[in-house]
Amino acid sequence: MSRFNIITLNKCSSTNDILKEKRDFYPSFTVLRCKIQSKGRGRWGREWFSDNDKGLYFSILIKETDNENIRFYPLSITLSILSFFENIGFSPEYQWPNDIYIKGKKIVGILSEGVYKGDKNYLIVGVGININHNKQDFPEEIKEKAVSLKMLKGEDISTKDISTEDIFTDILEIIDKNFKTNDSVITIIKNLQKYSRFKKKEPINIKEKGKEYKGYFLEYRSDGGILIEKNGEKIKLYEGDVLKIEK
Ligand code: BTN
Repeated sequence: MSRFNIITLNKCSSTNDILKEKRDFYPSFTVLRCKIQSKGRGRWGREWFSDNDKGLYFSILIKETDNENIRFYPLSITLSILSFFENIGFSPEYQWPNDIYIKGKKIVGILSEGVYKGDKNYLIVGVGININHNKQDFPEEIKEKAVSLKMLKGEDISTKDISTEDIFTDILEIIDKNFKTNDSVITIIKNLQKYSRFKKKEPINIKEKGKEYKGYFLEYRSDGGILIEKNGEKIKLYEGDVLKIEK
């Protein structure tokens, strides 16, 4: 028996939004999955295209009073999903802060939102995974950058869909196991580093609040930031979009 209180709906606006609205009502570790989202959201107010049942869309509500633990959860969830893809034979890559790429294309997006003040802390970690999409199912602007599990398996429209239900069950099992193991944030970051899209001293470009930081990747920090080197100076960044500089 896992710790999760699982709710599945056929359709909703956004699993993050519903859990946020009903956070006082639902117990901690409620997982809401919607087969279709009409208002799926990504980071920076972007749309997460999920108005179809081709992906897996779910969010986990975590009610925690400890600020340290609140950093643990999104990282542990990201690591669990990386393990899932590795277990089924792929070489997933970790993209700071919470995304997963395979073969240079994005397959998982994670949106972590919460309130970290006072005694009513809560965290909602929303996960979107591309499962049964064919290339033409993605909106034009991400067609070249996104990939689904089905595409990676070399399958096409004629092939039977992969069960999102089974993947959901497998992933929650790994997440539950990793929550139980309760590794320190430092250990999780060390593990994430092994999957990193960026190796030490590789060129990196981070766009944060309209500013561009082109430098060299150094490391991920236990406080959630990323450390880069730019013109001999070390710079810590806590948000932003990371872009790979092709060599
Ligand atoms: C990103 O890459 O910008 C993050 C995307 C997160 C999408 C998931 S789908 C389930 C949950 N509900 C949402 O509205 N967003 C997250």
